[in-house]
Formats: sequence, C-alpha cells, structure tokens
Amino acid sequence: MKNRVIRVSPSIIATNYKNNETLLQSLEKIEKAGANCVHLDIMDGKFVPNTTFDYTFVDKIRDKTNLLLDVHLMVQRPEEVIDKYAKAGADIISVHYEACKDVYSALKKIKTKNIVAGLAINPETPVLKIKDILESGLVDLVLVMSVHPGASGQSFIPGMAEKVAEVRELSRKVFIEIDGGVNTKNAKMLRAMGVNIIVSGSCIFNSKNMKKTINQLKGKGLLYHIREFLDI
Ligand code: DX5
Ligand code: ZN
Repeated sequence: MKNRVIRVSPSIIATNYKNNETLLQSLEKIEKAGANCVHLDIMDGKFVPNTTFDYTFVDKIRDKTNLLLDVHLMVQRPEEVIDKYAKAGADIISVHYEACKDVYSALKKIKTKNIVAGLAINPETPVLKIKDILESGLVDLVLVMSVHPGASGQSFIPGMAEKVAEVRELSRKVFIEIDGGVNTKNAKMLRAMGVNIIVSGSCIFNSKNMKKTINQLKGKGLLYHIREFLDI
C-alpha cells in the first residue's frame, strides 16, 4: 500500500527574514532540501502580540521561489485583507476561526480566487466548533495550531496530535496542516494521526542537514530508503 504523501512547509520567521540576502539564501536552501511550500506567518500585533510582515512580503518573494506560498493569517478580521494576499500570489490562505467576523464569507472569498482555503484553529478551540463549517464544503485545509500563535521556537502542546485525529475523523478528504513545535520525533505520531502538511520553523532552520531533517519530517527515514532501493 502506498503511504500518504507528507508535504513540508518551513516557516520563514525562524530565519533572519529581514535581511534580504539571508531571506533569498533560505528560500533557495529549503527548496533544494525538498520542501514543498514556504510558510509565511503574518502577524498584525492585534490578533497576536507580535508583528511580522504583510502582503508586500508575499509579493516580494513570489518570483524568487518555486515553492507554494502558504500564507497563515494571524490577523484580526482577515476577510478585509484576503484580496491583497490573493493578488500578491498566495497559493494557500489560512484564516483563524477565532479572528473572523464571518468565517463562511472569508472562506468563500478565498475559494472564488482558486486559492486553497484554510481554516486555522488555536490550541484551545475544540474541533467540534468547526464541524458545521467543514460540512459546508468551504474548507480545503484545516490548520491545527500546536502552540499558541505568535512565535517560532515554542514547545508542542500535548494533546494536539489527538486533535489532528479528531479532524481526520470528521473528514477524510480535508488536508490537515500542523503548525508549532513540530520536530523529527513528534512528526511520526502526527503522520499516523492523518496529517498532510507539516510546518516547521526552528527544527528545520536550526538543523545542520536540512535535507535529512525534511526527509525525516516526511517519514522518509532509513527504512524508506532501503525499501526504495530494493523496490518493495
Ligand atoms: C506560530 C507560527 C508557526 C511557527 C512555527 O505562531 O504560526 O508557524 O513559526 O515555528 P516552530 O516550528 O519553531 O514552532
Ligand atoms: Zn504558522
């Protein structure tokens, strides 16, 4: 049986993205190392205390990478800025359930632009809260936050892997993305629970061998390479 393909989305805020040279080098490095997307954490200083960058950053890197642009909007009233991110070239846009005034219209807005519509939930938001929204068919992806949104480098909150399983139980076809404190050790459990996309900031950017780390996050460990070699 073929295993589910796991995609990896390195979070650029874990690198010194304010330095243009470092930013370009990091984009190149993660692409070469086998990443599938680049995760862009937009923070407005209101929904979360920190601020990072806005749609102009997305616009700036669009032509600098072949990776999918995975935009995570940690902003209040995301519906008001979706158009700007769509125009800037986002491939995935995730809005927070907790930040929307009208989550249905926010998701519709994303979908009408032919962009993957993501719904993010904070660690304290129960999966049941989004059951009806999932059933509406407007959600392509659920982004399960496994840390409190706001910063890279935090520890994985216990119980969030089970939350992934709960989402998977509600829908077999929705993509599930996990974000926060993921490393090569807890990734195994997350894959078993049904995750499709793994976001990782510090684990990837602090590693000495990015390619190996990304392969490990994808579950392509030694056994995978032996199987591939033996074609079994
Ligand atoms: C947290 C962000 C995450 C974070 C991940 O608010 O949404 O994407 O950058 O970084 P690590 O993997 O270091 O927890
Ligand atoms: Zn994020």
